[in-house]
Amino acid sequence: MEKIIDEQKQGEALILENNTQNKRKLFIESYGCQMNFSDSEVVASIMASEGFSTTTNLEEADLVLVNTCSIRDKAEQTVRKRLQKYNAVKNSHNKNMKVGVLGCMAERLKDKFLEEEKIVDLVVGPDAYKDLPNLIKEVDAGRDAVNVILSRDETYGDVAPVRLQSNGVSAFVTITRGCDNMCTFCVVPFTRGRERSRDPQSIMEEVDDLVAKNFKEITLLGQNVDSFLWYGGGLKKDFEKASELQKATSTNFAMLMDMVATKYPKLRLRFTTSNPQDMTMDVIDTMAKHKNICKYIHLPIQSGSDRILKEMNRQHTREEYKDLITNIKNRIPGCAISQDIIVGFPTETEQDHKDTLSMMEFVKYDYGFMFAYSERPGTTAGRKMDDDIPNEVKKRRLSEIIDLQQKHSGERMAQFVGQTVEILIEKESKRSDEQWSGRTTQNAVAVFPKENYKVGDFVNVKIDSCTSATMIGNAVGYSENN
Ligand code: SAH
Ligand code: F3S
Repeated sequence: MEKIIDEQKQGEALILENNTQNKRKLFIESYGCQMNFSDSEVVASIMASEGFSTTTNLEEADLVLVNTCSIRDKAEQTVRKRLQKYNAVKNSHNKNMKVGVLGCMAERLKDKFLEEEKIVDLVVGPDAYKDLPNLIKEVDAGRDAVNVILSRDETYGDVAPVRLQSNGVSAFVTITRGCDNMCTFCVVPFTRGRERSRDPQSIMEEVDDLVAKNFKEITLLGQNVDSFLWYGGGLKKDFEKASELQKATSTNFAMLMDMVATKYPKLRLRFTTSNPQDMTMDVIDTMAKHKNICKYIHLPIQSGSDRILKEMNRQHTREEYKDLITNIKNRIPGCAISQDIIVGFPTETEQDHKDTLSMMEFVKYDYGFMFAYSERPGTTAGRKMDDDIPNEVKKRRLSEIIDLQQKHSGERMAQFVGQTVEILIEKESKRSDEQWSGRTTQNAVAVFPKENYKVGDFVNVKIDSCTSATMIGNAVGYSENN
């Protein structure tokens, strides 16, 4: 499974560091989705102006912030274990160390966190990071501090993130926050609030800055990027109430991508996550029109069964999803597609499960992120449906799905053997310090001998062999994009 499952989606922590010489030390780590990793860069920026510099050494931290994930129970358990670790370090190294929880668990549990976990001094939800300076003052004065107020308009568009996790080549730019979709299994609408879009001008300024700093690849980020809609501010759900002028001058996702791709034709552009119900032909046509928009779409299906899709409140049918896939494949030849799938949603029958497998056979996804259903308190499914699929059944279905995905991923990779593909070099290969690692437009990873190339170069690589997750080859020269 190694590469099929995205490292960050699996909740591996990433510990962030920058080099400013501030006096107080902040240890910040993030779990969960890319949005959390991106938010931590906003938090680091806010904290830097409060006199904190980041450290990767927990033992020297004055303040520990953990950006948390609530998507599945396991993600929450991981965070609780980390809190025990902070407690141990506090006792052994620095009795004055303060601990704050950020992100989705903070929003979900609110001040209950302070009772449940004695180590916690500070609880801050995803829309309240600008209040951190005030909250820290409270904590410094010996009081617990909580702010979990969700916002209708906060996008942090005016905070320049500190690029902590970056290789200097690829970066994430947040374009929407929150989600209005209310999938019945999902906690995100409760923890991240209503959907709102960021001003395209501030998005463009962030992109300009990244290009000036020599970044080569940008991923536009949101829970549901296809529903990006800017009409001068305001919630997505209030668009109908906007004036005629606001409507006429609004910017949708296809227009936003077109703007960025046109302005910077050598910049690789990616986006995540797409929701099938909101992905329009405009978006697909914009991808087809621009060579620099990567041929890769993450398009969660969750289930291949119409009945389960309905129970999940996904706003599309199996047939509509298949039509979308057919349109993508026709208009964007060679486009890679990946999935999220949940097995064992309440009432899922063997037939429903088979429908999911047959959907996978239809699409032949390049990659996949597969999960057993985890009941989340407060969601519609959590409140109204019994988590009635036994664990062994969930496990067996999950392994069938993973096996099939692995087979498809292997077949997809094998197609590239013998071909020459364009790779953007990102970093040294994990397996050898004599090799570079980078990705194709389809998001497939390739490794090859370094020669005289360097990180950030676009290189043509002839692929000689592959595993189910990595292609292996040799560079044959710079690509025309270089
Ligand atoms: N739109 C979001 C989706 C966030 S959740 C995005 O930006 O990716 C990521 C994935 O986690 C979902 O697509 C779903 O497959 C899975 N997931 C969400 N809630 C879940 C639950 N209660 N149990 C198991 N998996 C879940
Ligand atoms: Fe969750 Fe569905 Fe939104 S999976 S993030 S409610 S699109």
